[in-house]
Amino acid sequence: MSLRVAILISGGGSNMVSLVDSMTVDHPARPVLVISNTADAGGLAKAEARGVATAVVDHRPHKGDRQAFETELNAVLEAARPDIICHAGFMRILTAHYVDHWQGKMLNIHPSLLPKYPGLNTHARALDAGDTIAGCTVHEVTTELDAGPMLGQAKVPVMDGDTPDTLAARVLAMEHQLYPAVLRRFAIGDRSLLNLP
Ligand code: GAR
Repeated sequence: MSLRVAILISGGGSNMVSLVDSMTVDHPARPVLVISNTADAGGLAKAEARGVATAVVDHRPHKGDRQAFETELNAVLEAARPDIICHAGFMRILTAHYVDHWQGKMLNIHPSLLPKYPGLNTHARALDAGDTIAGCTVHEVTTELDAGPMLGQAKVPVMDGDTPDTLAARVLAMEHQLYPAVLRRFAIGDRSLLNLP
């Protein structure tokens, strides 16, 4: 029996696509649901085009009441019975209540070499700091933002003349390699750190 993977998105969903497209043939997992917290996320149509069920759990009606949003999110997730939940560009801060509920099952991808630059604007911060190497990290989700145990990292060079956008594009291409590779390992119980390239 394949493991069941739910994927949470907020935007274009390119990482979600790389995960969905990786779960074929002998992969130990299959995508069962893509959830977005906003109805206009471009990733929803990409999931549907791949035959993956989608749902929208809009955070806005809850007006900053994170627990109320998460109660609705949990109900949708529970119905999908996920073994693994991949946060893939899911831009909501989660409460301890949510994290405790799904402890040990949640992965996240973050566009920096953690522990550097948790939070937002990672590429601008790397450029401001004069970093010559940037990258991305897949980690387990814990109650501390972007700080759970690391499962994989991928590095890219910072080039002369890089802007946050050009650096983001180079990092994103590596995210698409790293996240599927980590998911496959995680699905067979391997939580050792993967370093790419
Ligand atoms: C990705 O770069 C991902 O690492 C980042 O958002 C982008 C989503 O792109 N996530 C975060 O910043 C989480 N804090 P995508 O929707 O095309 O996968």
